[in-house]
Amino acid sequence: MVPRVLVVGSINMDLIVQCPRAPRAGQTLHGTAFTTAGGGKGANQAIACARLGARTRMVGRVGNDAFGAELRENLAAAGVDTTAISADPEAATGVALIVVEETGENRIVVVSGANGRVDEQEVARAEALLGEADVVVMALEVPLSVVKAVAMLARERGVRCLLDAGAATTEVVDLGLPALVSILSPNESEAEALTGIRVDDLEGARRAARRLREMGAKEVVLKLGAQGSYWLGDEGEAHVPAFPITPVDTTAAGDAFTGCLAVELARGRPLPEAMERANAAGALACLRLGAQPSLPGGAEVEAFLAEAEKG
Ligand code: RIB
Repeated sequence: MVPRVLVVGSINMDLIVQCPRAPRAGQTLHGTAFTTAGGGKGANQAIACARLGARTRMVGRVGNDAFGAELRENLAAAGVDTTAISADPEAATGVALIVVEETGENRIVVVSGANGRVDEQEVARAEALLGEADVVVMALEVPLSVVKAVAMLARERGVRCLLDAGAATTEVVDLGLPALVSILSPNESEAEALTGIRVDDLEGARRAARRLREMGAKEVVLKLGAQGSYWLGDEGEAHVPAFPITPVDTTAAGDAFTGCLAVELARGRPLPEAMERANAAGALACLRLGAQPSLPGGAEVEAFLAEAEKG
């Protein structure tokens, strides 16, 4: 059976500057290159899912402008069904300013634009499509009221809901979102934003995951960058180590991970196995510049895993 994924989320044009290191406050530095690429956590996750072989639909909003048209084309070209993406005549398409350092680390500032106007119309579109999804994926770059409404609908319909805690704030906790989703997946800084617990090693990850479970999260999957990923859930825990790589640009590594996790769960793979493949997808996304251009397809993930197995 072909896995079916519904993504409700953000769509951005990424404006990317490469430079040796990010400037300090008040400092002006020379960058080495500028480029634009499709981005937005939702759109990245949708493209990741489609490239990995899922029948993928996306619900979201762009502006009625050139960036919006280009981003919809990118999604459609990757095989994502874009019929539930609308163009808002009163807002610009979302943009993200991304500074990528020589180390591959990034710093991102998002201006939401049309993403911030996602509302009950998108909830209704998601509701109509939930019946045809094995997994619904969301992040936190669209209004939290929408994320909450879709999570509640998914729960009612028995559809697995994977919430990537990208752009997390404490409001997520105040709204009770951890208890509404099937899987909550923050990275280190997002886990710290949600729990107040510093996550810089496995012990910190365990403590933060336990805290998120106390907040009602059923399954917690932490993205730990160079340390891999960590799962704590009803049936146990697992640390899945990362694949060693030298990153060019870590942008969208988390989205590649989330997309791959969603697809593998939709295929019925158990969490720790799905995480190993998601770690591979995340590693591959670090090897190329830009969010959407870096997202791997299924054959690339298979080849990477086969190579890693050989040692
Ligand atoms: O996760 C990476 C994404 O975050 C970028 O593509 C940017 O648009 C922001 O949404």
